[in-house]
Amino acid sequence: MPGMVDTHIHASQYSYSGTSMDLPLLQWLVIYTFPMEARFKDLDFANRVYTLVVKRTLKNGTTTACYFATIHTDASLLLGQIANDFGQRALVGKVCMDKNSAVKHYKETSHESQEETCRFIAELLNKKYPLVKPVVTPRFALSCTGALLGQLGAIAKNNNLHIQSHISENVEEVKLVMETFPESKSYTDVYYKCNLLTNKTVMAHGCHLTDEELALFRETGASLSHCPNSNISLCSGMLNVRNALNHKVKVGLGTDVAGGYSASMLDAVRSALETSKVLTIQDPDQKTLTFEEVFRLATLGGSQALALDDQIGNFEIGKDFDAIRVNVAAPDGPIDLIQSGGPKYNLEKFLNCGDDRNIVEVFVAGRRVVPFPEHQQ
Ligand code: GUN
Ligand code: ZN
Repeated sequence: MPGMVDTHIHASQYSYSGTSMDLPLLQWLVIYTFPMEARFKDLDFANRVYTLVVKRTLKNGTTTACYFATIHTDASLLLGQIANDFGQRALVGKVCMDKNSAVKHYKETSHESQEETCRFIAELLNKKYPLVKPVVTPRFALSCTGALLGQLGAIAKNNNLHIQSHISENVEEVKLVMETFPESKSYTDVYYKCNLLTNKTVMAHGCHLTDEELALFRETGASLSHCPNSNISLCSGMLNVRNALNHKVKVGLGTDVAGGYSASMLDAVRSALETSKVLTIQDPDQKTLTFEEVFRLATLGGSQALALDDQIGNFEIGKDFDAIRVNVAAPDGPIDLIQSGGPKYNLEKFLNCGDDRNIVEVFVAGRRVVPFPEHQQ
């Protein structure tokens, strides 16, 4: 099957994934996330965590990942190098934040954030990695001054770059954004005014967007990364994917490690199905997403969300070969294939019951990257 596209994952937060999910977003950021991200000033620590997250995601069939790193330029460049070394296709973002960090050594001035973003972009592009590209990464509207948001919008525009951030994840966050940016009509409007909504923008979450805001997404070509594990784990909300798709907004899936506890896109597939079913339980008129639809979100949908669908997402002639070879009945694997029911049956079985033991080989741009070569095991 086509390789899976993780449209939103914090590589740095892999260090504490599976723990610390007992606080709502804004407290979670201050108590757990910022202190942990501050440790990535240490390049040895960054090297250890980033190697582990690239290997873990590749083994689990993520052929393309859209990563948040931290504010540290050199560690973010290292993440790009590691993705390139292992052959993963990646967008890598040095995080920008010039306010509200509350953690002593984890903040930048507006000037530093802008200068370091430019250095990050220049140095990463200069490496000429064929599959790894920079993405302009304002953390979210509450971590950035309006001035910085505007500067980052200009940098992305002048260099024709991808943009990633977070939007409308949690109700308290939306309320604070509206208080902080009273001149804006909506959370979406804050980013729109700063030229941060383009057809190369991916915004994570979007649980609480209005239909009017979805219309602005459609108009600008910006996409949503649906991160259902995180949305439930941090009690943030639930994105109505069907409604976003009905508004012709591009949607991909994200693990959002470590708001989400799993780095596996198979988990994101299951969580997306579960969230959709909860929405149907709440309102039986809401048509549940099918497993085929969620499979599409994990592959072609993700490639569209990252504006890479001219290169990846399915096996159309002319695209790169990003693929995983699945053995549904892998020996010592998690699945007992008691009856055989054809490709569709096998796909459903794998998506719901499979794990990395079923993923026998992974290919990115035609090159086999899993199993890892001996020197990288
Ligand atoms: N909003 C701003 N920063 C973050 C983050 O690191 N994780 C999540 N889930 N939401 C955010
Ligand atoms: Zn996130």
